[in-house]
Amino acid sequence: MTPVLVTGATGTLGVPTVSLLRAAGHEVRALSRRTGPGLVTGDLVTGAGLRAAVDGVRTVLHLATGRKDVVAAQNLVTAAGAAGVAHLVVISIVGVDRIPLGYYRQRVAIEELVAASGVPFTILRATQFHSFVEGFFTGQRFSPVLFVPTLSVQPIAVEEVAARLVQVAGAEPAGRVPDIGGPAARPLREFAQAWRRAAGVRRPVVPVTLPGRTFRALAVGHGLVPGPAFGRTTFEEHLAGRYAGGR
Ligand SMILES: NC(=O)c1ccc[n+]([C@@H]2O[C@H](COP(=O)([O-])OP(=O)(O)OC[C@H]3O[C@@H](n4cnc5c(N)ncnc54)[C@H](OP(=O)(O)O)[C@@H]3O)[C@@H](O)[C@H]2O)c1
Repeated sequence: MTPVLVTGATGTLGVPTVSLLRAAGHEVRALSRRTGPGLVTGDLVTGAGLRAAVDGVRTVLHLATGRKDVVAAQNLVTAAGAAGVAHLVVISIVGVDRIPLGYYRQRVAIEELVAASGVPFTILRATQFHSFVEGFFTGQRFSPVLFVPTLSVQPIAVEEVAARLVQVAGAEPAGRVPDIGGPAARPLREFAQAWRRAAGVRRPVVPVTLPGRTFRALAVGHGLVPGPAFGRTTFEEHLAGRYAGGR
C-alpha cells in the first residue's frame, strides 16, 4: 500500500482521521510544522519539506488550516500535481459560498483552485464540529452572561467527519460530494442550555441578533444541511464524554 499524506494531522480533525487511517492499515505521513514521533515535518506556507512529503504518495487528505490558507493550498496542489498524486481530498465547510465570512471566502478560493488544478479531487463540506460550538460557549468564560446568537446550528462529531473522510479517500475522486452535518439542526440557544447543564454553568443566556449579511445568511440556514442527517452523535453525547466524572 502506498502511503497517505495527511496535512493538519495534529489538529482537531487530523488526529482522529490519522487514527482511523492507521487502524485501517494505511501507512500515514502525518504532516506538521513540528518534528516528533510519527510526524513528517513540512510547512505548507513556505513549502519547506513539501516535495519530500508528497513523493510516492497516491492520496492526500488536506485538513490543515492556519495563516495564509490559500497560499498553503496552492503550494500543496502544485506539489501534488508534480508528484502525480492520484487523489486529493479536501475538507471544507457547509455554506462557504453563501455566508460572507472572510475565512469562508478563503475556503471557496481553495475549493476553486483545487477544482482547477487538474489533480483528481474530492471536496467534502461538513458543518461545525461539536467541539467548535462548545468552544463558543467556553470562550465566554469571563462574561457575566452567555451571549447566544438567535440562529440554528447543526454540529457534528469530529470522529464522524474523520470516518467519512477515510471513506471518500478510499473511493475514486468524486469532485464535490454531498455535504454532511450533525444529527439535528437546532437553535443555538438549545445547545447553550445543554452546555450549561453539562458544565454546571448558571450564567443566564442572553439572545443576540446582529445586523449584517453574515448573520442573515446564518440565520436563514445557509450553514445547515437539509435532508436526512449524516451524523449520529448528539451534542449532549459529546458533552457527556467531555464532562464525565466531574466538571
Ligand atoms: N472546526 C470546525 O468546526 C470545522 C468544521 C468544518 C470544517 N472544518 C475544517 O477542518 C479543517 C481542520 O480544522 P481543525 O479544527 O482540525 O484545525 P486545527 O485543529 O486548528 O489544526 C490545524 C492544523 O493545521 C496545521 N497547519 C497549520 N498551518 C500549517 C502550515 N503552514 N503547514 C503545515 N501544517 C499547518 C497544524 O499543524 P502543526 O501546528 O502541527 O504544524 C494543525 O495540524 C479546516 O480546514 C477547517 O476549516 C472545521
